[in-house]
Amino acid sequence: MKKYYITTPIYYPSDNLHIGHTYTTVAADTLKKFKKLQGYDAYLVTGSDEHGQKIQEKAKENNMEPKAYVDKIVKDIKELWKMLEVEYDEFIRTTDEEHEKAVQSIFQQLYNQGDIYKSKYEGLYCTPCEAFWSESQLEDGKCPDCGREVHWAEEEAYFFKLSKYREDIIKLYEENPEFLQPESRKNEMLNNFLKEGLEDLCVSRTSFDWGIKVPFAKDHVVYVWIDALLCYITALGYGTDKDEKFKKYWPADVHLVGKEIVRFHTIIWPAVLMALGLELPKKVFGHGWILFEDDKMSKSKGNIIYPEPLIELYGIDAFRYFLLREFSFGQDGSFSREKFLQRLNSDLANDLGNLISRTITMIEKYNNGIIPSPTIEEEIDKSLIEVATNTRDKVEYNMDKLNYSQALEEIWKLIRRTNKYIDETTPWILAKENEERLNTVLYNLAESIRIIALTLNPFMERTSNEILSQLGLSENINWEDAKIWGKIEAGTKVKKGELLFPRLEIDKELEKLEEANQKLVEERSKKKVEEEKEKEEFITIDDFAKIQFKVAEIVEAKDHPKADKLLILQLKVGEEQRQVVSGIKEYYSPEDLVGKKVVIVANLKPIKLRGEESNGMILAAEKDGKLTLVSTLEDIESGAIIS
Ligand code: MSP
Repeated sequence: MKKYYITTPIYYPSDNLHIGHTYTTVAADTLKKFKKLQGYDAYLVTGSDEHGQKIQEKAKENNMEPKAYVDKIVKDIKELWKMLEVEYDEFIRTTDEEHEKAVQSIFQQLYNQGDIYKSKYEGLYCTPCEAFWSESQLEDGKCPDCGREVHWAEEEAYFFKLSKYREDIIKLYEENPEFLQPESRKNEMLNNFLKEGLEDLCVSRTSFDWGIKVPFAKDHVVYVWIDALLCYITALGYGTDKDEKFKKYWPADVHLVGKEIVRFHTIIWPAVLMALGLELPKKVFGHGWILFEDDKMSKSKGNIIYPEPLIELYGIDAFRYFLLREFSFGQDGSFSREKFLQRLNSDLANDLGNLISRTITMIEKYNNGIIPSPTIEEEIDKSLIEVATNTRDKVEYNMDKLNYSQALEEIWKLIRRTNKYIDETTPWILAKENEERLNTVLYNLAESIRIIALTLNPFMERTSNEILSQLGLSENINWEDAKIWGKIEAGTKVKKGELLFPRLEIDKELEKLEEANQKLVEERSKKKVEEEKEKEEFITIDDFAKIQFKVAEIVEAKDHPKADKLLILQLKVGEEQRQVVSGIKEYYSPEDLVGKKVVIVANLKPIKLRGEESNGMILAAEKDGKLTLVSTLEDIESGAIIS
């Protein structure tokens, strides 16, 4: 059996991965399922990249040992992959003992052969941050992290002779056009990094110690990227005496990575492999980013989209379908809840769900649930059969290029063609006038949805199995059968099941989704706060002084046009006028509020709530379902500071 080795990046254990993080993994897992159906021995590796200064600092902030800190997060990451139904074969952690040993012996080998050498790391150094910066990274001549003065410093370090491999890397790109995809990324690498000449790479650090120790210099730890990249081979047992998997699966057929880490995978990684005398990966594919409404997702912007609510509310298949269908794999794409729900309605409920339910219902109604034998063929059948029997090849063609979106579009062309076939052949009229022709039409519809189910399998496994089961067929997928017409035996009994994808009321769902995401954000930050609280019961006066409470007068109040529970309030805060969106509509009507003086948090970072800017927060007291706004005992002018 031919092997096919796929990797996802080795993830940083940052708490709570968002929808963007799931993109590479879902794509990699779909590819694995697809290759398996094609008959490959497909192997998928993922893992966690757990060393480095940042993790060490985070652990310290949490009063934990780094290993205990990452253990907790890695558990969550594994939970998420389980929820996404990712079938990885190996989850490698950079803290695995075998990995650490292998990295040390590789480092030693590279040192022994002269590819790693000792020198000095020079640069602008920020002492409190313990970080080196280049001139161009500084902000106003100061440390970009803390804004303090930097000074010229040097430190002993080990370097990898990256410069030596420059020409070989350029040659690698030239001789293997498939190596780096999409094409545009190759030009980026050539123009931005390789053309100017490569500098040797600093591969050890002494400013922190949470890492793999350099075997011959124990006060140095191995640079995290060398540590993490080597996972792709140590996960297969390279460097140990159990290296059968390495012999079987290496080189990687494809490393799937996000665009920002292409440089590490297509310059540093091949150079390290060249130095080790190992075969090079066949392909590195740098996919685009998922943005939220055209903006980068980040905790500080408060625009993180978590995958859990989408999966819990609409199912894993809808989630995976959307990720792979909506975005073109090589390019950036923008997520919005509207787009997500619209696709669910148009592609899944209207096109696919409807087709399956119409077909099974007709077979039940017109032929007692038995798939009849085809008898009278007509010209119109040919075009359906042609589209259906060509779909598998088109899916393969697009998957070879990792064009997931187009592969799905090819399946949807068949879905739409089949829906059209129903309208063209009007089985409800045939049921009255031409039973024999009806038999053929029903058979063709069943055949067509069988092919749809088979080709959909690697993308939406549950849906595929459900369709096959409704057709009364086995869930054992034979990929070859997706090309062959006439596989269903007449006489097979269909079993109507539940509606695959019910139509959604977009406005209602939008609110549900936004609430569920917000709830998760709050729960997660509450969890954090509680953890913090456990460490420190009290806040200091300085902590309190960070919050600005002010008296504000409500001068206007109206319903939020897009949300049932929100009011949009215009406030006068001293001389200033500002807008706040507040979830108090259940308790107050707009007319009750105008003229009231309330207490607000005035220096809260502005956010948009269902498209409306909210600049601050109104305080309210709540208990047992009762809510009342906070105010002052005596009347006082708006703008008054509360301290
Ligand atoms: N630890 C490194 C990888 C080392 S590989 C030897 C790393 N980890 S990461 O956790 O930051 O990123 C993991 C993957 O998630 C990357 O492929 C990254 O591009 C992807 N994504 C993170 N945010 C993303 C989006 N918003 N959109 C799409 N993918 C993005 O990098």
